[in-house]
Amino acid sequence: MGKVYYISKNVGIGLFVLAAIALTTIIALSIAYHKERIKNRGRPGDGASDNTSVPTPSTTPFTSKDPWDHYRLPDSLFPISYNLTLWPRLEPNADGLYIFTGNSAVVFKCVKETDLVIIHSNKLNLTGNQVKLSGLGDASAPTVDKFWFVVKTEYLVLQLRSSLAVGASYVLHTEFQGELADDLEGFYRSEYTEDGVKKIVATSQMQATFARKAFPCFDEPAMKAIFNVTIIHNPGTVALSNSRETDTADSVIDGIPIKVTTFEPTKRMSSYLLAFIVSDFVSIQSNQNSNLLVRIWARKKAINDGHGDYALSVTGPILQFYEEYYSAAYPLSKSDQIALPDFNAGAMENWGLVTYRETALLYDPFVSSTANKEGITSIIAHELAHMWFGNLVTTRWWNDLWLNEGFASYVEYLGADHAEPTWDMKDQIVLYDVHKVFAVDALASSHPLSRREEEVNEPSQISEMFNTISYSKGAAVLRMLSEFLTEPVFARGLSSYLNTFAFSNTVYTDLWDHLQQAVENTASVQIPHTVHDIMNRWTLQMGFPVITIDTQTGRITQKHFLLDPESVVHRPSQFNYTWFVPVKWMKTGVEQQQYWLLQKTDTNSQMRVSGNDWVLANTNVSGYFRVNYDLGNWERLLSLLSTNHQALSVINRAQIIDDAFNLARAKIVSTTLALTTTKYLHKERDYMPWESALRNLDYYILMFDRTEVYGAFQAYLKKQIQPLFGHFKSITANWTKIPEGHTDQYNQINAIAIACDVGVEGCRELIKSWYRQWMENPSHNLIHPNLKSTVYCRAIAYGGVKEWDFAWTMFKNATLASEASRLRAAMACTKLPWLLNRYLEYTLDPTKIRKQDATSTIRVIAQNVVGMPLAWNFIRAKWSYIFQQYGKGSFSFTNLVAGLTMRFSTEFELQELKQFKEDNLHIGFGSATMALEQAIEKITSNIKWVRDNKAHVHKWLTDEST
Ligand SMILES: *[C@@H]1O[C@H](CO)[C@@H](O)[C@H](O)[C@H]1NC(C)=O
Ligand SMILES: *[C@@H]1O[C@H](CO)[C@@H](O)[C@H](O)[C@H]1NC(C)=O
Ligand SMILES: *[C@@H]1O[C@H](CO)[C@@H](O)[C@H](O)[C@H]1NC(C)=O
Ligand SMILES: *[C@@H]1O[C@H](CO)[C@@H](O)[C@H](O)[C@H]1NC(C)=O
Repeated sequence: MGKVYYISKNVGIGLFVLAAIALTTIIALSIAYHKERIKNRGRPGDGASDNTSVPTPSTTPFTSKDPWDHYRLPDSLFPISYNLTLWPRLEPNADGLYIFTGNSAVVFKCVKETDLVIIHSNKLNLTGNQVKLSGLGDASAPTVDKFWFVVKTEYLVLQLRSSLAVGASYVLHTEFQGELADDLEGFYRSEYTEDGVKKIVATSQMQATFARKAFPCFDEPAMKAIFNVTIIHNPGTVALSNSRETDTADSVIDGIPIKVTTFEPTKRMSSYLLAFIVSDFVSIQSNQNSNLLVRIWARKKAINDGHGDYALSVTGPILQFYEEYYSAAYPLSKSDQIALPDFNAGAMENWGLVTYRETALLYDPFVSSTANKEGITSIIAHELAHMWFGNLVTTRWWNDLWLNEGFASYVEYLGADHAEPTWDMKDQIVLYDVHKVFAVDALASSHPLSRREEEVNEPSQISEMFNTISYSKGAAVLRMLSEFLTEPVFARGLSSYLNTFAFSNTVYTDLWDHLQQAVENTASVQIPHTVHDIMNRWTLQMGFPVITIDTQTGRITQKHFLLDPESVVHRPSQFNYTWFVPVKWMKTGVEQQQYWLLQKTDTNSQMRVSGNDWVLANTNVSGYFRVNYDLGNWERLLSLLSTNHQALSVINRAQIIDDAFNLARAKIVSTTLALTTTKYLHKERDYMPWESALRNLDYYILMFDRTEVYGAFQAYLKKQIQPLFGHFKSITANWTKIPEGHTDQYNQINAIAIACDVGVEGCRELIKSWYRQWMENPSHNLIHPNLKSTVYCRAIAYGGVKEWDFAWTMFKNATLASEASRLRAAMACTKLPWLLNRYLEYTLDPTKIRKQDATSTIRVIAQNVVGMPLAWNFIRAKWSYIFQQYGKGSFSFTNLVAGLTMRFSTEFELQELKQFKEDNLHIGFGSATMALEQAIEKITSNIKWVRDNKAHVHKWLTDEST
């Protein structure tokens, strides 16, 4: 599934919680659901915001007796193809219910003797002739004795009078009716308003286990089949599905005029990749890739205003890039991408019909920021990568989801880089995936990438697989693999894997085998163990190492890196937490070279240096590990930064800062050493190092913004940011234009956000005047899209109810979702408690805040230092209601708990959380269960950290700010 991330990224909401700033706001907003990697400033204090620990114990252990009590289908029947007709009603029926009706004929083959037909079906009512089983060819079907639904395991079960014949094929006919609910799952309805008129779209989200809510089907990824789809719909609407439409005929049913659209048979595919959409949307198209039909669909107005143009312009190049990279033609005859007003995930890679949130696909040059644009490019590149990897070749079961999502999360940077070569996209994976997931994977409660198939059964366990570890660690280790194999070898292995397993299923070791083959066919690449053995260390055990290089002796060691050195790892590892570590490194005057650390300790005499010479390891952070040095080398690196920082690449500058701060958290180096890495920043103009520093300092803010340390903190930061603010002021001709460089644009946002938060002269006035101009002339918003989030948030923080209410009006009238999302985040920035409380109430009123946005809005409010206690009270008071309404399928729920508790750093707050857990055990926490456990772990470590560091951080900051 796609992730959401977007829009946000750099959107620069600043760091500072200072001015009651909901910093990471947008992020949180745009984000949304589980899998999302928050492409924004992931605060260290916030790292564990995803589902990342051990699986939740299932509530009632039940001993399965009958085949239908198992969550996995028996291996006796396999589908071959389906005829499926669906008819969604876009008007409510006499009972006020929106429904769809349908019928299906599935041809399946019996491969093991059985007198049961077990097929998934969830929340469907059978109608008409109910069920009918017939034989295909010579086979005659046994009589159906009885049939029933099993709610818990989501099956329709047919008990037959005698057994099916092994080798024979049968057809199961069903007629059914389901609700076209607005629950964002299966075949569902999405509502939006256009020109004051309420409109309905019937659309779908099948991943992971919702196809069974649209029609009875063998709903597991390895149950690939061909689908012959027909959709019945109203005149004036258009029906879309995975394959190209072959015919649209007018007809009449019960006196009602209808259209019947039929589609080409699909390729052999998994049910979770199906999509059915009926809307009055329109499209733009191009045929630039030879015969391939490429279309972008959206609301008429959005298309007419050109908001789909950017997406269309990058889709062709991205598809071409993958065709070359994979050495495999795009597997389908068309590529549709559609922007939906109401959509849970960021995007979903349905084969041939990719669905997106509007914010993830539509770009308006006058309203969208550079970060929005980058978000769109990356998410398209992510989803299109899946058209081969994931869709054409699919892992057998959800336990290998990490391979699918990790892969797409890695190659999306390559695809996006191809579409926008000036953006330095390939560097950014370090900030947005590697550093981000380090924070999560450094916890004792982390888990390995790979799970055994039998550990993942129930739908809730499947949902848990969509987490940061799967996406970002998956991306990081695959990138490392590609780096040490070299890209051409990696691509060759990949291509052979895709061609071998096209239209079928794999397990992750199949990829290792094909990569190994590619290595063996390449004389120039040597690796010390097989791909399989090297990668097992990274995928079967959780966490990652910190390697320590002693440049006096050349000794090099590795150790499992734990953010909290006192945490206890309960999970045993067959590899005893050692890794085969590919270390790319360099030293003064010597170019990058490759070295493998294969034991706990080793000596490499080349790493011995003297005088002013330094060693730097993990160049460009191509490996998934942290690096520590002897103090002398640290000092030489710090002195290099302060005298000639450009001697190191931006990635490595960012890395030194990030490693130092995290090593300090783990008590491997001193907090003072970490803070010292920020001293050179008054000379730094590049985005990555600044971003890295600000993210790390975020933790200091969270821990200290309610204490006396905060004054000194602001003073220090003011001193460091002032030159950057001045730099941007001058290169933008006194804020009259936008910097040219892509990442400079992001850093401009940082400069303004932080400068305002710490009170750099002229900053707040600038913000207020921009917002005031807009309030005076609402139809002429002159604030540059890049700066909008920052400006809105701060103007609301510095203002009162007038500024807030203006934002609310603009939010309600916003036609572009990304603009609405910014405003929604910004409204959480006010410092006035009554406005925050009123806003909290709004979140539970779907006419004010869309259901899909409720939990993320509460989360942003909690990020505001004033809003946090209010949101915490609000959640405690209304847990049972919120849980019922939003808890089950809503993935952002997990983030809510992390967001609410990210400042918690006292014994008292820890007790409050534990009490909350006690008090609500009877209601439950659903997908937030793991997040609660992680929050408790985080808070415990926060308490210790504050106790150990407060005094000397205060002193250091005081000394350095004068
Ligand atoms: C679907 O169409 C294909 C291709 O025409 C055909 O082979 C298959 O039998 C059809 N499936 C069913 C269930 O009739
Ligand atoms: C599927 O539909 C096609 C076209 O209407 C029809 O010829 C075929 O018999 C159907 N297959 C089954 C198994 O009902
Ligand atoms: C399915 O049947 C149940 C029980 O009769 C009924 O409450 C429900 O509304 C039906 N659903 C649909 C979509 O018809
Ligand atoms: C695993 O590592 C620990 C800590 O370094 C060491 O004490 C222990 O002997 C190792 N165990 C095995 C089985 O290698």
